[in-house]
Amino acid sequence: MLSWDLTPDLSTMQRDRAWVEIDLQALAHNVQQLRQLLAPSTELMAVVKADAYGHGAVMVAQTVLQHGATWLGVATIPEGIELRKAGIEAPILLLGATNTLEQVRAVARWQLQPTLCTPKQALIFAETLAASGDRRTLPVHLKLDTGMSRLGMPWQQATEFVQLVTRLPQLQIASIYSHFATADSPDPSIMRQQHDRFQQAIAQLHVLGMTPPRLHISNSAATLVDSRLHYDLVRVGLATYGLYPAPHLKGTIDLKPVMQVKARVTQVKVIQPGTGVSYGYQYIADREILVAVVGIGYADGIPRNLSNRINVLLRGQRVPQIGAITMDQLMLDVSQIPDLQPGEIVTLLGQDGNDAIAADDWAEILGTISWEILCGFKHRLPRVAVERSAARDERLGVGN
Ligand SMILES: Cc1ncc(COP(=O)(O)O)c(C=O)c1O
Repeated sequence: MLSWDLTPDLSTMQRDRAWVEIDLQALAHNVQQLRQLLAPSTELMAVVKADAYGHGAVMVAQTVLQHGATWLGVATIPEGIELRKAGIEAPILLLGATNTLEQVRAVARWQLQPTLCTPKQALIFAETLAASGDRRTLPVHLKLDTGMSRLGMPWQQATEFVQLVTRLPQLQIASIYSHFATADSPDPSIMRQQHDRFQQAIAQLHVLGMTPPRLHISNSAATLVDSRLHYDLVRVGLATYGLYPAPHLKGTIDLKPVMQVKARVTQVKVIQPGTGVSYGYQYIADREILVAVVGIGYADGIPRNLSNRINVLLRGQRVPQIGAITMDQLMLDVSQIPDLQPGEIVTLLGQDGNDAIAADDWAEILGTISWEILCGFKHRLPRVAVERSAARDERLGVGN
């Protein structure tokens, strides 16, 4: 009897419908640019939380570590475990909170380095580790709240906090750090106030003869703004991925966007004047137009609020998106490309020819920040590592 193997080969299906391209050369370039900004003694932590801002944590972590980053920052324990299971041995700082016994055990088991923000938390860690019989000391990072009002011990109580943790033999202070609330603002006054508070706290420790092995306070913006804020380590997220944290910081170093979002045209058809497009008829054709259906939608992370408000790139040209963006599909007015064929590639974010659409463009339309746009792409979109030249060849129909 004749039988067919109909099991799909998922690897060849990666670019069937819609996907995210990750340019590892651009990533390496950004890390090198950041490294050049830093003194040799200042370490670079790549912040790879939230699946490396949507780029794919393991792939990003491996690349940045090869090109000059020496630390990784994650928000949650599972994010750290994912990196360890992939064989990554670099120090991993947990930027988020950990409080429960299970969390303490997991932190120790996977050799993650927690952020401590309260004396109670420090005591839970010390007691749990003592009870486990593990004789190793756990490196911990004490976070001071200097004005962000998020995680952290109030900076005025830094001395007592450090003294308490120093007395716990299970814990070893690996760093003292803080986080800026407004480093991306053109007005530096709040950032300066936070920095002053950080300096005061550290100065008090020095008076008492306590010298933390590492100090850090800078995110991407602070790293780009002022080398006096670099200290022993900088924690860089957004700039690693090739985006500037604010318009006034554009060009401070040469960053290349790492992520591109692409999808294929699935159907092309003519519609007549007066014909509505998509749910709710938010768009009604005022003339005969050529419509392309594209296989990507809000369930992939294209915000529905962008409906009727964006252009995409097709054959290097800008074409308008029309009608409501649906869960899995959206429509374009492609009248300017009369010979368009199903299967052609649409660039929603990224470069095609001489034109490019940036996450910042969408963020501006939506009144949000580029961080949120990057993190919004769902796992339904395969992350495909590419080299920029290969991506260009594919658009031109070169190669396979
Ligand atoms: C504590 C901490 N440090 C550093 C970063 C990296 O910030 P950015 O992406 O602006 O570089 C973040 C990100 O939110 C953070 O929460």
